[in-house]
Amino acid sequence: MDKYLVVGNPIAHSKSPEIHQQFADQTGQKLNYDKLLLEESDFDQAVKSFASVGGKGMNVTVPFKEKAFALADNLSERAQLAEAVNTLIMNDDGTITGDNTDGAGLVFDISTRLEWVIKNKRILVLGAGGAVKGVLLPLLKEGPQSITIANRTVSKAEALAERFSAYGNIEASSFMALEKQAAFDLIINATSAGLSGEMPILPDNIIGTGTAVYDMVYAKEDTACMRWARQLGCQHIADGLGMLVGQAAESFRLWRGQMPDVAPVFEAMKAES
Ligand code: ATR
Repeated sequence: MDKYLVVGNPIAHSKSPEIHQQFADQTGQKLNYDKLLLEESDFDQAVKSFASVGGKGMNVTVPFKEKAFALADNLSERAQLAEAVNTLIMNDDGTITGDNTDGAGLVFDISTRLEWVIKNKRILVLGAGGAVKGVLLPLLKEGPQSITIANRTVSKAEALAERFSAYGNIEASSFMALEKQAAFDLIINATSAGLSGEMPILPDNIIGTGTAVYDMVYAKEDTACMRWARQLGCQHIADGLGMLVGQAAESFRLWRGQMPDVAPVFEAMKAES
């Protein structure tokens, strides 16, 4: 049976084995998908060992995405721009391809499950770390009118805007300067502030009645970002569970050549969480 693996640290709570098993059952494919906790220094060796025992592919999560990027023999365009890899494909010729399916997962969730429009819309992205770098190219390829990246450290937002400027209309901002902006169509939160239950202080004018708010993290209860949006009267709010299932679906497609049906797996994961 073809073998797959997700590695990270921590990894115990990873839902990936369950998600991929459901995709496999649904498409009638037989595969074995495990999770493995790794220490930082063991990553390269673990990938080589897995490839040597016939492993077909790996998902890579925090803190190994940059190591996976460095290790891959070749990279997709989106992985090159993300400078991070969440999916490794062990090719038959012994080489390893690195890809990044996070942005595709986000775009899929926003456009297909939520049916929110990206094309020609004004988008605000909060944060300028690795999570943002991982999703900007797929977002820009959807043809938004503009993407504004706002970050606590403005220089990081500026560096990202510069890096991605060839792919669309993208600008950097401080949180304060958002005061001068009209309400955005879509706000995507990718700061890690939410992990400690916080939300950066932002001017209220960025949310209007039609604004949709997407938090890239997910939790059992509403996140700080979701509570913030709700307080300001926002009607369209989502967390990142669908992005998680979407990035897994895109990895599955790369490995198995078939796009699974994401909706029932999303519903099963939601029921569990
Ligand atoms: P990730 O891989 O999750 O993107 P990261 O690369 O460390 O993690 O980036 C974290 C992001 O969350 C950054 O944009 C960070 O802002 P700074 O660049 O100014 O550090 C943002 N962030 C983290 N805690 C925050 C807080 N309390 N308020 C505002 N932004 C915060």
